[in-house]
Amino acid sequence: MSFYSEYVENVEKKKSQKKTAAIPHEKIPEEPAQAAPAPPDLPAGVGYQQTDLTDIIEIRNVHQSYDDGKIKVFEGLNFLIEDKPDQGQFISILGTSGCGKSTILRYISGLQKPTSGEVLLHGKPRTDKDRVGMVFQQYSSLPWYTVYENVELALKYKNIPKAERKDKVMQMIELMGLAGHEGKYAQYPSLSGGQLQRVAIARSLVAQPDILLMDEPFGALDIKTRLDMQDLLAKIWLEIHPTIIFVTHDISEAVYLGDDIFVMKSKPGEFVYHHHVKLPLYREREMKYTPYFNDLVRQIEGEMLDLEGKFGKKEG
Ligand SMILES: Nc1ncnc2c1ncn2[C@@H]1O[C@H](COP(=O)(O)OP(=O)(O)O)[C@@H](O)[C@H]1O
Ligand SMILES: [Mg+2]
Repeated sequence: MSFYSEYVENVEKKKSQKKTAAIPHEKIPEEPAQAAPAPPDLPAGVGYQQTDLTDIIEIRNVHQSYDDGKIKVFEGLNFLIEDKPDQGQFISILGTSGCGKSTILRYISGLQKPTSGEVLLHGKPRTDKDRVGMVFQQYSSLPWYTVYENVELALKYKNIPKAERKDKVMQMIELMGLAGHEGKYAQYPSLSGGQLQRVAIARSLVAQPDILLMDEPFGALDIKTRLDMQDLLAKIWLEIHPTIIFVTHDISEAVYLGDDIFVMKSKPGEFVYHHHVKLPLYREREMKYTPYFNDLVRQIEGEMLDLEGKFGKKEG
């Protein structure tokens, strides 16, 4: 049984348990990192509420092939993101290049349909009404529009009247630390790489999506900008808390931002490890220097280095 199937089993178990409050994380635990599943019997007040909420995302038995079946990316992929009451989730996905991370995001965003299998949002096949935002590594803002116009565009698409748009746009521009830049064109070098990426995030968030997909969004940024963006995203997530699915190659970034981390293998793409990050929901840079954080990073690094050895070609 993989760690991932343990995770799914735990979700099912949890759903059948009666719990009282939704405060899953309180303090940094002292014990070393381990891939242990959540304890089956949490003390009152620390567990999850019993709710009828359906899972936010479910990918069920998905097959993906190209070239008349010669290339097989997924052969029965399953993935589950449960809903937690009054709380979005921050999911980090790690995996080797080409294992299918971007493909999964494309399914969820509706940009691609699997060869076969189901993609469910909130328990139903996804429709155009599902609000899903997407941020890519490449700057995806429109360079011939200003920062203001780029952010406003998302609300125009939603047919929000002009009078209502202004407040929302300016609030989001402020939240993303772009105040004073709203009149500039969304292009380099009028804006820096970090600022352009903030425009893209602002544009995605202003439409208040239930789900925000981020595909290596900070991959092209220099280290200082990247660290600043991580802190900004952590802060914003606390304020707006949509469910974020965050794909990254950076293990430390995945742990710092993620509430749950999923590790994928390739050929075929499949989730093989799951870690629940036992850090407080509110993240601060100092947490990166704790033994817990570093043990977890080291453990995941080991898992990723061994993906090939453990899940590579079978004999015969
Ligand atoms: N149109 C296509 N034809 C053939 N193979 C494809 C096509 N699109 C994607 N793939 C393959 O699907 C796999 C998964 O791609 P992708 O989801 O982009 O991987 P990741 O984001 O994890 O790096 C890759 O091996 C890629 O080569
Ligand atoms: Mg990719």
